[in-house]
Amino acid sequence: MEHKSTNEFFCLPELVPNFDFSGPSLSSLVAWLDSTETSDFSLQCAGLLTLEQLLAEFFSLTTHEQICCKCVTGWLLHRVRSETTEYPEPLLKFDIIISQHLGSYVGSCSNIGFYYNWKSAEVSPGSAYSTQLLKDQKIEARFRLLPGDAGQSFDHFMIGHVVMEAHANDAFVAALEMVDSIKKGHSIDHSLQILCEVVTHFSRVFANYFHPEKTTKASHWPGIQKCLKLPEYFGMGGVQNTSIHIFGLIIGLSTPEHKMNAELEVLGAKHYTHKQRQVVECFTKNRDVLKDYINTAASPTERELYQKIIARMASWRSIHKQRVGTYISATTAQSHSKVYQTSANQHGTLEEIQHQLDHRIVETRALQPGCPHNP
Ligand code: HEM
Repeated sequence: MEHKSTNEFFCLPELVPNFDFSGPSLSSLVAWLDSTETSDFSLQCAGLLTLEQLLAEFFSLTTHEQICCKCVTGWLLHRVRSETTEYPEPLLKFDIIISQHLGSYVGSCSNIGFYYNWKSAEVSPGSAYSTQLLKDQKIEARFRLLPGDAGQSFDHFMIGHVVMEAHANDAFVAALEMVDSIKKGHSIDHSLQILCEVVTHFSRVFANYFHPEKTTKASHWPGIQKCLKLPEYFGMGGVQNTSIHIFGLIIGLSTPEHKMNAELEVLGAKHYTHKQRQVVECFTKNRDVLKDYINTAASPTERELYQKIIARMASWRSIHKQRVGTYISATTAQSHSKVYQTSANQHGTLEEIQHQLDHRIVETRALQPGCPHNP
């Protein structure tokens, strides 16, 4: 596997997100999105935009700035669509064209909408940064997408994803080294220890940021979820977070058997930028390397560490499932309907969704060496 520098940002922005566009049309989009934090958010601003001018300004940006721009247009579409059934014509067309250019898809998604929506008092927009800044949680949402307390919950929801991804980067570096070590016949104890620590951080960060009473409050979930949806296209789903998806590839998880989980993976992939897609493909190519090694040639210590990683990953999925239950119940109680429509347009009762999530938990546990279901 090609080994890049350890400063590799993988799926995170290569520089601090920068929304200081010099062009007047793109600046007006930023101002429009900034107004979502106030209760007088207007749906009319799109009338002032022309597609030609937007495109002219967009194509004078660097790739990093172009992705920042896509973060703005994606969120604007979601935000407007959550208030009305209409899509502002020039905005939609602009978003479609720039999505095609970047390799991504219509609307917002975690791997742009969350990963690019942050700022920090310690670094200026457009400058270099270290992922330590994100792991130390010295960031806040750049765009607050809902007014009031719900906006604060939404901030926690978005920043939690970014912090998880920053921890995931350590696992990605360790996994690249591990594949090299396996090929050279060297011990992989150290890399496995890092994977083990990362998955522990996943659970800690998840439990903090997605706490239904303290951070992402369950009472705010229906409002947040409304903004995550884009019913005519695809909304935002968990699989668009590369952290859990790539971690699964590293430990050797196969494509999900449950149809709905498999669909989610296809949907997630649609949203990746060209670079994010390359990162995911690089790990997909090597998805069986560690699993095969553990089942054939690993030392007892390596097997033990791998078992620990699997157990902890299954435990992350169990916490996720339990929290998902709380958020869904808050929404169905408000809508008086047993059927929940997920942000990624899937429909199901709580029991059906729990069953879907159980499938992936079972598939994760089945990776344990010696498990009768281990493929
Ligand atoms: C309040 C927080 C969250 C809620 C309410 C939630 C909800 C859901 C729901 C309803 C599903 C199943 C169907 C679907 O996505 O359409 C799902 C699946 C999934 N979610 Fe989440 N999610 C949350 C946070 C996260 C986070 C932070 C991550 C990863 C960083 C994540 C990763 C996943 C993955 C990977 C799946 C696919 C099933 C699996 O692989 O286990 N979710 N989530």
